[in-house]
Amino acid sequence: MKISLELCVAFVACVSFVNAQCAGKADLIILIPGSDSVPGHEFFPFERFLINLISFFQIDADNANVGLILYGREPVAISWPQPMKTHKQTNTRITLMCQRATYAEQMRGGNDVASAINLMRQMFSNTSGNTGQPHREGVKQIGVVFTYDGVEPELREVVINATEAAKAEGIVLYGVGKGNPGPEFSSIGSDYCKSFSMGRFIDGLPSVLAFLGSSICSEMDPYVNATEGNCFPQLYQSKEAEPVTCDRQSYLFPDPENCAYYYHCLFRRPVQERCPIDMLFDPIAKSCNYKDYVSCYTDIKCHKQNGLFAHPTDCSKYVNCFDFRPYVQSCPPGLWFDVSVGGCDTASNVACSNSV
Ligand SMILES: *[C@@H]1O[C@H](CO)[C@@H](O)[C@H](O)[C@H]1NC(C)=O
Ligand SMILES: *[C@@H]1O[C@H](CO)[C@@H](O)[C@H](O)[C@H]1NC(C)=O
Ligand SMILES: *[C@@H]1O[C@H](CO)[C@@H](O)[C@H](O)[C@H]1NC(C)=O
Repeated sequence: MKISLELCVAFVACVSFVNAQCAGKADLIILIPGSDSVPGHEFFPFERFLINLISFFQIDADNANVGLILYGREPVAISWPQPMKTHKQTNTRITLMCQRATYAEQMRGGNDVASAINLMRQMFSNTSGNTGQPHREGVKQIGVVFTYDGVEPELREVVINATEAAKAEGIVLYGVGKGNPGPEFSSIGSDYCKSFSMGRFIDGLPSVLAFLGSSICSEMDPYVNATEGNCFPQLYQSKEAEPVTCDRQSYLFPDPENCAYYYHCLFRRPVQERCPIDMLFDPIAKSCNYKDYVSCYTDIKCHKQNGLFAHPTDCSKYVNCFDFRPYVQSCPPGLWFDVSVGGCDTASNVACSNSV
């Protein structure tokens, strides 16, 4: 069964606009192909698309956990499902993921869709790689698998087996494919209404946004059952973003929606800029810094105003709290942080069981 976006567009007539929120609970994992066979003009639109997907539909930040996988020859768990808390954190993760040069080794070669799907299954079933987010019983698990063309003929069955296994575990799957999706593509979506294909991501992603987001929302709030004739029962509307303005005091200021960006004021007009790869804007120092040193990126909280504390998941790092702001820092190679002395020591001398 081949399903194309054009087919689903035929059902636009039954779409009604409502001002509703996507309020149900879900853990959502998004799989993005980033191998070096995906050229920049096809890959770069993902950042805008994913950020819009998260914000456009007002997916309830308290109810939805979002995880991200970037895959090429190997899959990379960019983020295990975690609460969005603020869209800002999720947006920042998306931007860092889209700097795929950071993962050049894993991205080299083909797109191993099956390994990415299997990593997603592991993220849904096993939370030990997660930084403190317990498995949520009874919460809908949704995987959105983007694919880039088809896979090698000998890998088709592996992909189909991985999608079948995921569905058998109760994961609702969406397939979003570009170009010539192979015959394995139609096995990805959980039902008729959950597969989208397009010519090129650069023009296809913006048009698919409303349908994909709306379908995910109705999956989370299952008031209407999707059928072949009623793929998209509701289209959710976006909330207007607050306009960014320059005030008299600041020349450089953080983007309120994404820590990887900042604004500078040119004749009192805000101009958006992006920090270099792997860096985020530090609002205190008013400059870009490596992501681990900028508190925006981390979920870690300081319980005391100042001091050095163990990192919750990594023995080789520690948290330097300054004025309740956590700065994650690393011990020299081979050393672990020892809470009892408040410094780094040879790993074998340190009792630490936090490493993931
Ligand atoms: C759970 O995930 C962790 C971290 O990725 C991994 O090391 C471990 O082998 C997994 N356990 C199972 C039972 O899959
Ligand atoms: C796919 O699953 C079928 C049925 O369980 C099995 O016979 C086959 O060997 C699997 N194929 C691969 C490539 O893993
Ligand atoms: C949707 O389908 C489910 C399961 O088939 C059924 O229990 C439910 O009543 C249906 N809901 C509506 C609104 O038709």
